[in-house]
Amino acid sequence: METKTHHFLSLIVFVYIPFSVSFTPLDNYLISCGSHANASLSNRLFVGDSTKPNSVFLSADRSILVTDQNPPVNSPTLYNTARVFRSPSSYRFNIKKKGTHLVRFHFSPFVAQGFDLTSAKFSVLVNGYSLLRDFQLNNTTVLKEFTLKIDKDELELMFTPVGNSGFGFVNGIEVFSAPADLIIDYGARLISLDGIGEYRNLSSQVLETIHRINVGGSKLTPFNDTLWRTWIPDEDYIVFKSAAKRASTTHTPNYQKGGASREIAPDNVYMTAQQMNRDNSTFNAMFNITWNFPVGPGGVGYLVRLHFCDIVSPALNLLYFDIYINQYSAYRDLDLSSLTTHMLGSPIYLDFVVDSDDSGVIQISVGPSVLSSTFRVNAILNGAEIMKMVNVTSMENVSKKKKKWVVVGSVIGGFLFLSLAILALLLALRCRKKKPKQRSAESVGWTPLRMHGGSSLSRMSDGTAYASPGQNGYFGLKIACADVQLATNNFDRNLIIGSGGFGMVYKGVLRDNRKVAVKRALPGSRQGLPEFQSEITVLSKIRHRHLVSLVGYCDENSEMILVYEYMEKGPLKKHLYGSGFPPLSWKQRLEICIGSARGLHYLHTGFAQGIIHRDIKSTNILLDEDYVAKVADFGLSRSGPCLNETHVSTGVKGSFGYLDPEYFRRQQLTDKSDVYSFGVVLFEVLCARPAVDPLLAREQVNLGELALEWQKKGMLEHVIDPHLVGQIKPSSLKKFGETAEKCLADYGVDRPTMGDVLWNLEHALQLQESGCQREPNADSNVNASVNARPTIVPGVPSSNVRTEGDDGNGSSDISTSQVFSQLMTNEGR
Ligand SMILES: *[C@@H]1O[C@H](CO)[C@@H](O)[C@H](O)[C@H]1NC(C)=O
Ligand SMILES: *[C@@H]1O[C@H](CO)[C@@H](O)[C@H](O)[C@H]1NC(C)=O
Ligand SMILES: *[C@@H]1O[C@H](CO)[C@@H](O)[C@H](O)[C@H]1NC(C)=O
Repeated sequence: METKTHHFLSLIVFVYIPFSVSFTPLDNYLISCGSHANASLSNRLFVGDSTKPNSVFLSADRSILVTDQNPPVNSPTLYNTARVFRSPSSYRFNIKKKGTHLVRFHFSPFVAQGFDLTSAKFSVLVNGYSLLRDFQLNNTTVLKEFTLKIDKDELELMFTPVGNSGFGFVNGIEVFSAPADLIIDYGARLISLDGIGEYRNLSSQVLETIHRINVGGSKLTPFNDTLWRTWIPDEDYIVFKSAAKRASTTHTPNYQKGGASREIAPDNVYMTAQQMNRDNSTFNAMFNITWNFPVGPGGVGYLVRLHFCDIVSPALNLLYFDIYINQYSAYRDLDLSSLTTHMLGSPIYLDFVVDSDDSGVIQISVGPSVLSSTFRVNAILNGAEIMKMVNVTSMENVSKKKKKWVVVGSVIGGFLFLSLAILALLLALRCRKKKPKQRSAESVGWTPLRMHGGSSLSRMSDGTAYASPGQNGYFGLKIACADVQLATNNFDRNLIIGSGGFGMVYKGVLRDNRKVAVKRALPGSRQGLPEFQSEITVLSKIRHRHLVSLVGYCDENSEMILVYEYMEKGPLKKHLYGSGFPPLSWKQRLEICIGSARGLHYLHTGFAQGIIHRDIKSTNILLDEDYVAKVADFGLSRSGPCLNETHVSTGVKGSFGYLDPEYFRRQQLTDKSDVYSFGVVLFEVLCARPAVDPLLAREQVNLGELALEWQKKGMLEHVIDPHLVGQIKPSSLKKFGETAEKCLADYGVDRPTMGDVLWNLEHALQLQESGCQREPNADSNVNASVNARPTIVPGVPSSNVRTEGDDGNGSSDISTSQVFSQLMTNEGR
């Protein structure tokens, strides 16, 4: 892999570099072959295989030690000796830690003692499996690296000469245990003609490293890598160089649990990237950056590991892009923010398994997704590794391994279940004690953690307002994975309608002809389990016309699948800007706002403990075929405070531009945080532009701030969607603007409840619809009425629903509202 570039490294004494020694492999053999002395390479000490005592057992009767008498200047000492094998010979290593290991062979041919090492031809076997078959070298130094699982306590590397040459050789060998999570068995996407599936058996594959690329960066040597890997720049592989532009940062990456770690790839990989080069194109031009990586003949499986770290975006949730491998869609609408628990500059990696075709290259492209904001079209790649799956395991071994994995899997699963149950119990007890003391962020945990505990059921049955989960509650929602497979035509990639932080979303049709959206957790969603369970627990107890309902879920094997009712018209955002849909009328927009306000109001008040959504934004409000709005995506939602508490402390989550400044400052979550986000959505609906648009002038970037300013000047009509000009009655606009303004109040206590917001929006609609248009100043009370309790108008939904709770199907809205009853028909289910 590496050509004979000799670094002047042997003279550098050992330097303590904190991060480069943070990983200490349990098994760690570095062997200098054919040598009585120790040798070095990249400042690492390789022990001579003929020194005594030796930790390695060598059985090589007819092997010969050869030494390069005239080594090139600066040649590492490791490359100046070799062991030549004239008959099958082997090295044996004791393995202390079973599991994934890295095995490297250094071959650096020279001519000595009558052997021209370039004419060697040989095979190498590991524990009987062939790693290198009929292997020959050019006149270059070659490093061969394999990643493989060792499940015996011995590793045997056997060198067998082939054909006329009659010998094989090796200069150096490395065998060391890999970090446990280097290769994991879930989350890899299998990309093929048949669509995207999951590849489950990665760790029992023998992987040969073919390319290891630091995209947008410089060459990284073993010095710069905790696993002593070499990463080379990508320039030579880019198909159209002018499509890409280097990006780099000086900030060290924010490594997060669930994302990549320093052992997955070093800092330097994540601190550089290629992004779309828009220097010579219009700012919103759509194109791909494409790399061609030469690989061997077709029909071989490859692991493609792509590394990402958003070092190009000024804020979260601005970068959406697609990944293609060999021109297949491999990941759509990748949103790094949502995969990295909402922090910029957090590294992640994604694994893909593909078959090579006859072209002899693996082609990787990244390009902007349709979800990109018109003003921020971009796509990035920070690193790429391509590893060949060496097809060595016999069928017998495969099945043996499978069995083992089932056992391991269920042990882990059982352990996880137990831990969750215990945690849930502790949490439930904690909550019941109603300590007045403020709870710390982590001690609380997510709602979902209660799900597995017996406590969750008891909590539900003593609740007052659940959607009758009963005994068959959400267990009744369990769907067989086979049914889901059938519904989606075995996860046909043509049926993919989106993907989020969680995984892919497919359109599907159940046996009863119900259209559904199927959300399937796949790679990158490794941290998705809490979100998955949160959605199940929250959604399973909710049935409301304005909340997207859960049809079922499936958690067989390692699948995490959620099945929702299908929302024909998709996210609200798409109907506001950027997607070319016909503009919505003002009435439609008001009805959508009212619908979502109603859904949220129900979330906040429909349960004993209330539920805070935490991620209200225009992409989380979905529209059905009749443009009825439903609030979706409860992945971040959590129960409100316990009774005696006024807020929940928690790590800040949510989307940039929608985030309650008070929540951000104080990390205290109340339902007023949702009200703030909803206020931003209201302005988004009115102005038809994104909540954050970093390409605009500084004071216009944040929609909330901008619209608020105009609203306070009484000149909101200056920033409304041009399509709405002349359509909105001034009184309606005034009411709407005031409502949104109240929602964006700095302090939660000054914001209206969702019930108040709902009432005011209904009022705005009524003003729009009413035959006699009132002059704005005829409605001089509106300012006060936003905050005023709805006692002003008898029978408004908020006053009743809040005090009496909801029966779970939203029907109380109907019975309690007389004033706006025309809006409420068809409310319940
Ligand atoms: C290999 O290359 C070196 C210089 O890089 C040269 O001196 C040597 O003769 C070459 N050997 C063969 C067998 O081509
Ligand atoms: C890699 O490590 C070497 C030796 O410590 C150092 O001089 C070099 O700057 C490092 N390269 C990068 C890109 O950090
Ligand atoms: C990017 O490449 C893929 C696969 O070749 C192709 O389907 C897609 O249309 C390209 N996107 C753009 C914007 O050119």
